[in-house]
Amino acid sequence: MTHGFDAEAFRADARAATDWVESFLERLPELPVFPRVAPGDVRAKLPASAPERGEPFSQLLADLDEIIVPGLTHWNHPRFFAYFSITASPPGILSELLIAAMNVNGMTWSTSPAFSELEATVMDWLAELFGLPAGWHGHIEDTASTSTLSALAAARTLRPGGIVYASEQANFSVEKAARLLGLEYRTVATDSAFRMRAELVDYDAATAVVPTVGTTATTSVDPVAAIADGCERSGAWLHVDAAYAGSGWVCPELRWSLEGVERADSVVVNPHKWLFTPLDCSTLWTRRPEAFFSAFSARPAYMQPSAGDVLDLRDVTPALGRRFRALKLWAVLRSFGREGLQHAIREHVRLAQLLASWVAAEPGWEVTAPHPFSVVCFRHEGSDDANRATIERVNASGLAYLAGTVLDGRFVLRIAIGHERTTEDDVRSTWEALRDAASA
Ligand SMILES: Cc1ncc(COP(=O)(O)O)c(C=O)c1O
Repeated sequence: MTHGFDAEAFRADARAATDWVESFLERLPELPVFPRVAPGDVRAKLPASAPERGEPFSQLLADLDEIIVPGLTHWNHPRFFAYFSITASPPGILSELLIAAMNVNGMTWSTSPAFSELEATVMDWLAELFGLPAGWHGHIEDTASTSTLSALAAARTLRPGGIVYASEQANFSVEKAARLLGLEYRTVATDSAFRMRAELVDYDAATAVVPTVGTTATTSVDPVAAIADGCERSGAWLHVDAAYAGSGWVCPELRWSLEGVERADSVVVNPHKWLFTPLDCSTLWTRRPEAFFSAFSARPAYMQPSAGDVLDLRDVTPALGRRFRALKLWAVLRSFGREGLQHAIREHVRLAQLLASWVAAEPGWEVTAPHPFSVVCFRHEGSDDANRATIERVNASGLAYLAGTVLDGRFVLRIAIGHERTTEDDVRSTWEALRDAASA
């Protein structure tokens, strides 16, 4: 390997890498979703030390096939139905290559002006696609965990020492953020549809209240408008966690779940969950950027603020260095367009409703929660252990991968649909495999 840039060698390696990606994406639906490996199997195939002399890039590609791919749980697989199903779409994949080639760091406006201005533009585009209020400040974080941590840090500047409230169905990232910030965390009971009971929050004691639009287990939607009433009365910060379901707002028929969000102090949506953008990409909006500035602004002597009327993103986020994530979001939004996003999301919702209808019609099976988006929770009659064994059998077969959860003290199966390439056949074959496994 020389220190110069060998364009010819790069071209050959680039072609080999994109050929590899093309073949991988083509083969993916036939690969087992869950790897057949035991702990330590992958490490045992890897050398204990880095090579003394550089190796050709082709060697790495060969090892991907030999060692790495057989040890992966394939999140980019159309029958990955666990957690929230996600997609690295082709424009997202290709733009990751472009991002690495430029390798810019958007700490301040001056460290890369086009970075900051593209990020602001893409965030405005996305706010408009989602029907969020115009004029909010938006920026990109790595994950919803960081977005929520940032929002609660901003809230704490206004009301230090109070309580963070979220429902007992809230994602663990909210509790983690409260814990990191030294804020007390309390959960609020939910109703029979797994929605936060807004009347149980002590708004006067709250630093922040964090309702979820699309909870992790069932995708229930907390009553954001009622919670906004309480927050506005007391001055508590309202942070909405719409990490998964927020992407559904590109479809007008799912905008019922946007009610009250326009009154939030901050809201997070993860394009890396249901908006076809590769990990990681979490979008955060706020109508109170000055509170983020209070939480995060720092002016070290070695890095002067940019001159002029510009925002330095390092002043509103916990990290100093920032990847050019806006570029992949730009690529996804341009290549899908509003119509393409709506089409893909509508298809996922259709498939989930279809699956729920099959389950409801099948003797011995029940749907165990409302399913307003693209996730269905259900179970077979019989013990929790038997339902767990059903999932394990299907996962071990390699056909599909799904996870369960516990609702009202009972173990339930859960299928999350969200991959761009998931078809009705994928959902049907998985359902049939579950039915067979349950009766085996
Ligand atoms: C509702 C909700 N909020 C937040 C998160 C955390 O997201 P991240 O992994 O981006 O931190 C998740 C993860 O699944 C989630 O379901």
